[in-house]
Amino acid sequence: MTLAGRDLISINDFSNEEIEAVLNLADEMSSALEKGKRLDLCQGKELYTIFYEPSTRTRSSFETAMHRLGGTVVSHAEAQVTSAVAKGESIADTVRVLERYADVIVMRHPLDGSTRLAAEHSSVPVISGGDGAHEHPTQTLLDLYTIRKEKGAIRGKSVALCGDLRHGRTVHSLVIALARFGAEITCIAPPDFELPDHIRDTLKSYRCKLTEYESLEDIVTEGSLVLHQAKTSSRRGGARLTGPCGQEGFMTFLLKNLDVLYFTRLQRERLSAGEIGDAAEESYRINRQLLEKSRDDALIMHPMPRTGELAYEVDQDKRAAYFRQAGYGVPVRMALIALLLGAVETGVSEGPKRKTPKLAKDVGGVRCLNGRCVTNAERYATAKFCQVNPQLLRCYYCDWMVQVA
Ligand code: NCD
Repeated sequence: MTLAGRDLISINDFSNEEIEAVLNLADEMSSALEKGKRLDLCQGKELYTIFYEPSTRTRSSFETAMHRLGGTVVSHAEAQVTSAVAKGESIADTVRVLERYADVIVMRHPLDGSTRLAAEHSSVPVISGGDGAHEHPTQTLLDLYTIRKEKGAIRGKSVALCGDLRHGRTVHSLVIALARFGAEITCIAPPDFELPDHIRDTLKSYRCKLTEYESLEDIVTEGSLVLHQAKTSSRRGGARLTGPCGQEGFMTFLLKNLDVLYFTRLQRERLSAGEIGDAAEESYRINRQLLEKSRDDALIMHPMPRTGELAYEVDQDKRAAYFRQAGYGVPVRMALIALLLGAVETGVSEGPKRKTPKLAKDVGGVRCLNGRCVTNAERYATAKFCQVNPQLLRCYYCDWMVQVA
């Protein structure tokens, strides 16, 4: 099986076998690097990173990865002000030019679906480094790698996702992958920051076990817990839970069952001042008190950057995995680049291909309702939808749902 020439925009662009192939190759790359071996697999190839939003880890780990593969790098940061986009150039024209300079492009952009649009106009592979609040698939590859490496497996692991689950793109890709790999998922998000409906809808098809709470405080101290199952597509209809062994007993039970606590920050750049309540961040802060109640072998993960949700006192604990997690970004991105450039074959036989979504016909005039969707910003971009059922369309670019009469 080859991944040569493929794009990675959504985690659902890769099958489970393809994801595993990336993680296995990352393991090999990591051991080769530890032994001091040179890996010149991509000599003569060029990686172009174009980032329209700030980045520390994603851009630099992609670039480090390409250097370690013996390739060359062109690094274009702050593209929103330093590229011709500032003069009104479109995403399509930008990538039509970049494909002439580079063998693979990594793009980060503030609009949902922007990297999919870029990939449509590029003849070389496009890797998304994050598109608005939509997805961040390569962060998910390294998150899965971290869990697999440090916990031995993903299937059956109990993972809690805490924070701004509505606007945080890392969790959108991650929660889908966790469901596909058979993890048990607990979501802890303050009201109005829960997983968006289109993600819930996707999760339904994987029949995963999903439990939701409003606040970590609810779990650690007393308080009422609100439990929702994935079957309820929105928070409405959740049941109040007072566990069989009492509130405190249940909370301790829950924390003792979590293999991974994955924290994310409030995505302030995607929120208006009115949307940022004081209570939001307070509801999912991890400190020593919470750590004491967690399992000895739990993993504390965070895609970074952290703001207030992760106390510095946690850093010294062996369970704090977030800096190791950031480090795994290099071998994982090395593996991905080498595979997309065809420098390495996956080594696994042709598995079942993930279905390419069928586009709905006769939807002329329907617009995506997501104000951040690229189809509402780039004039030449035609809105495209996949038919979920006769009344429901899913935006091909940003996955938002649109009801039709
Ligand atoms: C994340 C992102 O950009 O979405 N950062 C990263 O790539 N590691 C998370 C965030 O900014 O909160």
